Amino acid sequence: MNPKAPSPILLFDSGVGGLSVLAELRAVLPQAPVIYASDQAGLPYGTKSEAQIAARVAGLLGRMSERYRPRLVCIACNTASTIALGMVREVLEVPIVGTVPAIKPAAALTRSGVIGLLGTEATVRQAYVDNLEREFAAGKTLLRHGAAGLVEVAEAKMRGSPVDQAVIDSAVEGLRVQPGGDAIDTVVLACTHYPLLRTELSAAFGPEVTQVDGANGIARRIADLTKGQAFSRAVPDLAVTTGSLENFTPLRSALSHYGLNRLEKF
Ligand code: DGL
Repeated sequence: MNPKAPSPILLFDSGVGGLSVLAELRAVLPQAPVIYASDQAGLPYGTKSEAQIAARVAGLLGRMSERYRPRLVCIACNTASTIALGMVREVLEVPIVGTVPAIKPAAALTRSGVIGLLGTEATVRQAYVDNLEREFAAGKTLLRHGAAGLVEVAEAKMRGSPVDQAVIDSAVEGLRVQPGGDAIDTVVLACTHYPLLRTELSAAFGPEVTQVDGANGIARRIADLTKGQAFSRAVPDLAVTTGSLENFTPLRSALSHYGLNRLEKF
């Protein structure tokens, strides 16, 4: 495939979480035109069933691909990727990059052998995560916690609202109270919203815990898959929402910080 220079990379998430991936993508491919798609009408995914998420994500990505003709789609959401990546790859012809919990790099980093994993309630129960654990963290302990509330806190933070540190503390406590939890020295941020709360998570975990996420790896994978392709950002990059524009507009300044200067309803 040899896409035209303005053909975009489509980054998809349920909300603002994919911006943590976009930040890394901008660093690696500054000239790449991007459409950021936020399924605000379906947010949050973490409390939905597998069937609901799979149907929603496959349907939306099909329609978005028809409308925007992206050169590549990145599902910048762990919940959607761990549930629907295989299915979406089967139905779309465009290359798809998913976001999966960064268990492999975390296993290489841990010294205590105890890794924490924070994700949405839906992500932490996926067989996809069991498989990553078996493949990359054999001989280590992986403690998981489905952290209710962190997604909403990240969404609020990007709208300029104060962060409720109690919600962050309680998510961290959900890992610490498990047997062996005191020994966690590395934590996988298995939801793209969570790197947006890195400072607050550091305050709760303490400085000795390393936070690992997959954003940089995803950006490098996208760069690999688009190597040699021409890029041109001739028009300002677009952010689209499945929700109302009224509800999207308070994010204007955060989106603009990531180079997304046009807002539209999908
Ligand atoms: N950002 C998404 C993830 O990586 C999920 C957020 C949600 O629950 O909608 O898992």
